[in-house]
Amino acid sequence: MQKQKKAGRIVAMGLIGDPVAHSKSPEMMNAAFEQLGLPYVYQAFRVAPAELEEAVNRLKAQDLIGFNVTIPHKVAIMDLLDDLDQTAAEIGAVNTVVRREGKWIGTNTDGPGYLRSLIEEWNPAFSELSAVILGAGGAARAVGYILATAGVPKITVANRTLDKAEALAAHLSQWTKTEAVLLADSRAEVEKAQLVVNTTSVGMHPHTEESPVPCDWLRQGQIVSDLVYHPKETLLLRQAKEKGARIHTGLGMLVHQAALALEMWLQKKAPVSLMKEVLEASLT
Ligand code: ATR
Repeated sequence: MQKQKKAGRIVAMGLIGDPVAHSKSPEMMNAAFEQLGLPYVYQAFRVAPAELEEAVNRLKAQDLIGFNVTIPHKVAIMDLLDDLDQTAAEIGAVNTVVRREGKWIGTNTDGPGYLRSLIEEWNPAFSELSAVILGAGGAARAVGYILATAGVPKITVANRTLDKAEALAAHLSQWTKTEAVLLADSRAEVEKAQLVVNTTSVGMHPHTEESPVPCDWLRQGQIVSDLVYHPKETLLLRQAKEKGARIHTGLGMLVHQAALALEMWLQKKAPVSLMKEVLEASLT
């Protein structure tokens, strides 16, 4: 086994995806290692889908502590690992790989990262929360699973394509009460919800003047979360704020999914505030 060195530091963790050039993870992770006084480097590797297996074998041979996985490999990686934990298995995607007793285990910190960030910012009473998830793709599956298992008693999945909303609602019904609606017909559900989470890419740079729902569906007091973090405040969040809603930006989830991965690798608390500062600075 061979450890790669970079300027006297050990490449101990990394990220595979395509593209990875704009990833904020290396900056956040490397700042965290420095703060913790660790001689590690976190490096991003661009890996095309056809090269995934070879790249994973190379990372394993490099004796890494662990690595992150991003688009487009979060599902395909599952077949290349020794095991999955329950969170990754239920979400159906892996964003973090941890080495335990020589075995490579896939987990998912996206859902748990979302939850930790929501608790940090608004600490809602999950057992009394009704939630609407906008979108029914991979991110919706992670958020839906974590909210359902946190005790949210009712989740509505609102999606542009109804059959995908129905499939996700059926999956989540193992843990909680669910329903599926067409995004365009979800006004009543969005108005009633105490938590509205956008998991679609609508509003993401450069389409910053788009929102998944009209402004007049939003109301005072509800929490509106957007997983989109570029821009930091999407049109959805700006309009929610105008209506008196409590907003939760996508930065929190991005920081906490990274912090949770780091904590699993190092068995140490991550410097979350520093990681957030680094992320915010890199986005302005
Ligand atoms: P991710 O892994 O980021 O969740 P994904 O699995 O491709 O990405 O899912 C994207 C989600 O955003 C889907 O729910 C998609 O709706 P469809 O199922 O109808 O495709 C939703 N989405 C993407 N662009 C959208 C748009 N312009 N309007 C509404 N929903 C959109």
